[in-house]
Amino acid sequence: MFKKKKKPLNTEDIIDVVKNSGLRHIAYIMDGNGRWATARSLPRELGHSAGAKNFKEIVRYSRNVGIRYVTVYAFSTENWKRPEREVAAIMKLLDQYIDEAELEDEIEFLFIGDRESVDPRIRERMTSLEKLTVGRPFRVNIAFNYGGRDEIVHAVNLAISKGITTITEKDVSENVYTSDCPDPDLIVRTGAEFRISNFLMWQSAYSELYFSDKMWPEFKPEDVDAAIIEFSKRKRRFGGV
Ligand code: IPE
Ligand code: IPE
Ligand code: MG
Repeated sequence: MFKKKKKPLNTEDIIDVVKNSGLRHIAYIMDGNGRWATARSLPRELGHSAGAKNFKEIVRYSRNVGIRYVTVYAFSTENWKRPEREVAAIMKLLDQYIDEAELEDEIEFLFIGDRESVDPRIRERMTSLEKLTVGRPFRVNIAFNYGGRDEIVHAVNLAISKGITTITEKDVSENVYTSDCPDPDLIVRTGAEFRISNFLMWQSAYSELYFSDKMWPEFKPEDVDAAIIEFSKRKRRFGGV
């Protein structure tokens, strides 16, 4: 007896899976750049450059298969603890990425996080990129100097500043940075770590979680396919039966 070999899925099949599973928003925790570099005897900074290159590929691919919203965790409120040189390299990569992002014509960008501590020149570029790209059909949220707890506190204070005295869930949802996006359906973390690390604490209440052992620079479109297929098999109950 010969076992019939399963035909590998092509992009068209994945587009169908995305459609049929109602997957609209994927959030990526892009972890493992440093270990990827160290394993190759390279400085950690080069891991971040490889990670930035991969980010572009994964965003492009996610969009090609019909995802509407992508959120990426690029720099956390805790990542300032890293050596100055590494932090500086990440800031430089952000600056360089904005150059490229300005040339995109179908992506709407939103930076989520506390941009007050970012260099004023880069901060201005973040804001002008958002203004330039507003209303476009595919959304990329870049979490930069982002912390989930920080975001919730910020949202509550924002609601209070609007005169609200008793805060409801709706008030928090309407004042988090992603207030105009649906919550992520799927959160993918690379780098063989099984935690959330202060990412989208509010929005992830009912997100499906997917963990990959691959380091971020080696996480490829076929790995996105695997995450999407796994998502399509999950039964989301949202507390129901
Ligand atoms: C993720 O990769 C990128 C950032 C946190 C900026 P890491 O730099 O955390 O890589 P590892 O986890 O040390 O390998
Ligand atoms: C999470 O990765 C932050 C980003 C991917 C930007 P970390 O490497 O900072 O998380 P921990 O320290 O392993 O929890
Ligand atoms: Mg890490």
